Amino acid sequence: MGESFSELVIKRGEKGEGIAFEFAEIAFRNLPFLEEFHFFDVVDSTNHRAKFARPFSLFFAEEQIKGRGRLERSWMSKRGGLYFSIVLPAYNVSKLTLISALSVAESVKDSRIKWPNDVLLSGKKFCGILGEFFEDKAIVGIGINVENDVSEFDFACNIKSFYTMSRKDVFESVTKNFAKNYVDLLAGRWQEIFERFAEICETKGKKVKVITPHKVIEGIAELSEDGSIVVSGEKIFSGDCIHLR
Ligand code: BTN
Repeated sequence: MGESFSELVIKRGEKGEGIAFEFAEIAFRNLPFLEEFHFFDVVDSTNHRAKFARPFSLFFAEEQIKGRGRLERSWMSKRGGLYFSIVLPAYNVSKLTLISALSVAESVKDSRIKWPNDVLLSGKKFCGILGEFFEDKAIVGIGINVENDVSEFDFACNIKSFYTMSRKDVFESVTKNFAKNYVDLLAGRWQEIFERFAEICETKGKKVKVITPHKVIEGIAELSEDGSIVVSGEKIFSGDCIHLR
């Protein structure tokens, strides 16, 4: 596992004081399936740590020094943001990332989703999701700029610039929505989830340029019910999507 970081593992029902227990209380109350809450003050990446855990655990960090984004990018993870990864039994990772983005978007008024799973306010990104498979597990890593400084990136924003929501308010709402959306997903209510996603997806009907490892495709984006997009007749499951207008 490489470097070691100080970790506090809290099990359901355990009581204690301090920031770790405060966030653990929210997570256990809102996520009925959750068994373990792993808290780090500083860690490399919660997605990385989550790989070695059992399903139904949540990894949470105040700061990440090697936060990872999609497409091998890094994710700036300074204090003041929310950085956590949920470990679940193996399942369709595209659908899990989609319900994660939806859960965040449903928590922050007037936010929109840029396909596949960026969440935006006024056209700027404040949340990214990294869904991964590892052995028999699905891991969804959620990074949310709440009050961390993102002024060095002109494409990014934080929630604090729009609303007076604390990290706890955001975590409360996102975990609550995630639990609801996860139950809907497992119960086969995909159509319903997808319709809610489509309603707030900014990419739908937009002229886009999508960069995949193999090619660059331009055209009007249509959403597919499996979570992919269709651009100029090509079905695309993952890539870098740029809105052109
Ligand atoms: C992206 O938009 O590229 C995805 C960013 C995902 C960031 C989160 S923060 C918590 C988890 N741990 C990581 O290293 N990455 C994800």
